[in-house]
Amino acid sequence: MSADLILGIETSCDETATALYHSEKGLIAHRVFSQVELHRDYGGVVPELASRDHISKLLPMIDHLLEETEQSITDVDAIAYTAGPGLSGALLVGSVTANALAFSLGIPSIPVHHMEAHLLAPLLESGQSKMPFVALLVSGGHTLLVHVKQRGEYALIGQTLDDAAGEAFDKASSLLGLGYPGGPAIAERALTGKSDIFEFPRPMMDPKDNLDFSFSGLKTSLLYTVNKLKDEKALNEECIADLSNAYQEAIVDCLVEKSRRAVTQMNVDTIIIAGGVGANKRLRDEMREVFEKVGVDVNYPSIEFCTDNAAMIALTGCFRYQDGIMNKNYEIKINPRWSIENIYNRESLGG
Ligand code: KG4
Ligand code: ZN
Repeated sequence: MSADLILGIETSCDETATALYHSEKGLIAHRVFSQVELHRDYGGVVPELASRDHISKLLPMIDHLLEETEQSITDVDAIAYTAGPGLSGALLVGSVTANALAFSLGIPSIPVHHMEAHLLAPLLESGQSKMPFVALLVSGGHTLLVHVKQRGEYALIGQTLDDAAGEAFDKASSLLGLGYPGGPAIAERALTGKSDIFEFPRPMMDPKDNLDFSFSGLKTSLLYTVNKLKDEKALNEECIADLSNAYQEAIVDCLVEKSRRAVTQMNVDTIIIAGGVGANKRLRDEMREVFEKVGVDVNYPSIEFCTDNAAMIALTGCFRYQDGIMNKNYEIKINPRWSIENIYNRESLGG
């Protein structure tokens, strides 16, 4: 098999990211520009602003990456980009850029599924991971449990019925006046908080709810508690830390319990945790504690590959390129609600 150089582009949400991945040497370099500051005042991602910012950042970032790595665009064999799921305008920027560049260079473009990329991200560091495994994919937009039988064969075995875990952190943070993004802010406050002052529900723990999640009730419960504390003029810094701790514990408990059930039911001995919430230290510690006791390997990408990045897109694109799955017609295709279960079906991308 020949050695291939893949340029990866990620623009599905509020990170503009680029990467170069070599089929033999591995990751050459990757860069991420976060739009957090742009969206901070709004308490969440504003889709229109996200798209516009991707437009202004993406081409200069590709130029810089090539310059810094002393590569020429003509060395690139294919361009992989996130085609979904994500925000449609933001995805379109990556798709149009990738396809226009690929067309001008006469090389293929490769649409990549963002969540598949998240679950293959640990391969950026370890080179290989034992399959089959269960993956817990937890980000701002998704909370999924996926049974990975082999690369490309994914079964969705659990998901949230309402808010994603990251969204639950973000909404809580906004309620507590801690700003955006919420996960890191709540996690930081939780460090100094006590866990036994407040108690939040652990929704969907009944056996009949099996592997699904629900986080919207948890957020409502926090809202009632905060309103009551405000009425009593008791919402001080110490209280915010205690609330953050108890709320984080509730989310972590739900994620750990459902992961434990999934690993048992699928009878696997490896779990991978990926997506932005996978950066949560309390979740990492608890997963390790629960699974190491029973001989299950817990595998996380390092934080830089846990949150959105293009290294995972270039890596996934490289696999697809080597499997011969690519786009030589330069159709601008995206699917903001692309399911992880039928990613190898071309119709799932609209044609
Ligand atoms: O995967 P990601 O970078 O972007 C997508 O949503 O695709 O995930 C972002 C989410 C946000 O909701 C953010 O609050 C959450 O991940 N997050 C965290 C932490 N760091 C980021 N949640 C909990 N603890 C963290 N340390
Ligand atoms: Zn993501």
